[in-house]
Amino acid sequence: MSFIWSDSMREDYWAHGYLNIQGILPPSLRRDLRREAAKGRERTRHDHGPQAPRVHQIGEYAEHIDFQPFRDYAELPELCDAVERLFGPGAKPTGEIEKIGILIEPKEHSWVHGWHRDGQVEVPPESHDDPEVNGALWERFTTRHIYNQVNCALYRDSSLWLVPGSHAQPDGPGQIQTSYTDRCPSKDEGQPEEEFEEICLDHCRSFPGNPIQIHQEPGDYLIYRNAAWHCAYIVSHQPRATLHHNPAVPGKSKFKYDWMAIRKRARERSRQGPSASTP
Ligand SMILES: [Fe+2]
Repeated sequence: MSFIWSDSMREDYWAHGYLNIQGILPPSLRRDLRREAAKGRERTRHDHGPQAPRVHQIGEYAEHIDFQPFRDYAELPELCDAVERLFGPGAKPTGEIEKIGILIEPKEHSWVHGWHRDGQVEVPPESHDDPEVNGALWERFTTRHIYNQVNCALYRDSSLWLVPGSHAQPDGPGQIQTSYTDRCPSKDEGQPEEEFEEICLDHCRSFPGNPIQIHQEPGDYLIYRNAAWHCAYIVSHQPRATLHHNPAVPGKSKFKYDWMAIRKRARERSRQGPSASTP
């Protein structure tokens, strides 16, 4: 059945922070994209090893990957129509073709990325209570033409977990970043895969705020507010090739806070350590 837009989808997106547009990629396009994604997966593993999490950008492999299916994807009329209905005139499913990434499955063992909000993850966790950092972040988080991200699944993909509504809510009790910290599980040498899978799953399920696991079938175009709390648990036993990029959403904003300067100061304070400001 072909995709049919409903205006409640727009309301859902802004209320819950995600929208999975089901089955919008036709089978022939999925087939062409899978073929090119496989080339990217192979090159990336060759360059970055068996646990490589993604083809960073397909532009890196311009000599090996045929971009035409990605152009067809970017220009797919039903998808262009849905994205314009969601964001308004001039919005497009993706920005530059060369910048499309592809999320892939690990070859050796499963892994979990950990909980985080994009943006917030750019500053050290000890600065997350800083009013200036929060002022700058929330000014950006509430700006609708930024912090939109796409995962378009070419195979079944249930890797992403998200706390619905958290894109518009301050951090709740216990909502503390685990990505890039020692709170994020990592596999011990010799640990059985099945044992580690349990630990990863528990890490996803136990985060405060009633997180959900988002299930995508091949051809589903998921768009989400990456300011929301989210986490990825990627299993090695399921093929994965999920296009990962931002949509192109027109918009201008004049920010009161200079995020880049605030981010730099927060990082410098962290490097100095807590004792540096203690008399
Ligand atoms: Fe993220």
